[in-house]
Amino acid sequence: MELLDAIRRRKTTNGPFLPDPVSEHHQRLLMEVAGRAPSQLNSQPWRFVIIEDRAMIGRIAKISGSSMTEAMSNGTFFERYKPYFRFSAEEMERSRDGMLFDKLPPAVRPFTSQAFTKRGQKLMNALRIPQTLGSENRKLVAGSPLLLGVMLDRKEYRPGQLSSFYSIFSMGAAVENIWITTVELGMGIQFVSFPMEVPEKWAEIERLLAVPDDLQLMAVFRLGYLPPDQRRPAIDWSSHQRKLPSQYVFRGTCSTPQTGWDSAGF
Ligand SMILES: Cc1cc2nc3c(=O)[nH]c(=O)nc-3n(C[C@H](O)[C@H](O)[C@H](O)COP(=O)(O)O)c2cc1C
Repeated sequence: MELLDAIRRRKTTNGPFLPDPVSEHHQRLLMEVAGRAPSQLNSQPWRFVIIEDRAMIGRIAKISGSSMTEAMSNGTFFERYKPYFRFSAEEMERSRDGMLFDKLPPAVRPFTSQAFTKRGQKLMNALRIPQTLGSENRKLVAGSPLLLGVMLDRKEYRPGQLSSFYSIFSMGAAVENIWITTVELGMGIQFVSFPMEVPEKWAEIERLLAVPDDLQLMAVFRLGYLPPDQRRPAIDWSSHQRKLPSQYVFRGTCSTPQTGWDSAGF
């Protein structure tokens, strides 16, 4: 597969994976491409933990689902990320960024535009929507053949210092290499970030994975092979929209947006 094609097809998998285990060959390949990423002074600050044990995946899935329920029912999730929520294709077309909530559970659909107001929150809680979403999230994570924990070396990751930025930057490059390679391997990948919204839950995952004191758990991903027919899952907030080059590229100085590149199909 051409690299450009893989980059264009790269996406987040919101749905289930096939139950098949990820072959050892593919696991090694994913780790190789991660390790080939650039890093400041060749520090290679990333570390990975590959998790295939069903019981461990089940425990992490439970934490993920309950974190989602908690962050959604106490309003922190909506409060934190409101600026990125879109409720219509027109709104999405205008901003060309954020997440389009075009697939909410049927009970809240009529109230979609108020879903994230105080009243909407009360209604969602009364209808136990956060519990429904949390349970869907738990099932998705639990059904994944492989979880991947990404850690940073605390000698590099020192919040408040420049090295912290460098190490996060380098980790991002390593993760992007993995992400693009999943396309080539017929695999999908999704960030499991809800436990990070609830610090105690994140700490629980760190304990389960025996993350040592000199490392910091930065991310958990779920990975697996993609089923041939990918129907829209219960939780599927679409975000394939992208800004136009004139919205994020400048020419010469930052006073001049790049024009003439916003061709159709972008
Ligand atoms: C730092 C970071 C955190 C993310 N957290 C989540 C997440 O919790 N759940 C999820 O499904 N996707 C998550 N994503 C994926 C983004 O939602 C996704 O990349 C974006 O919406 C664009 O969609 P695409 O990856 O399909 O192109 C995260 C991505 C990044 C870089």
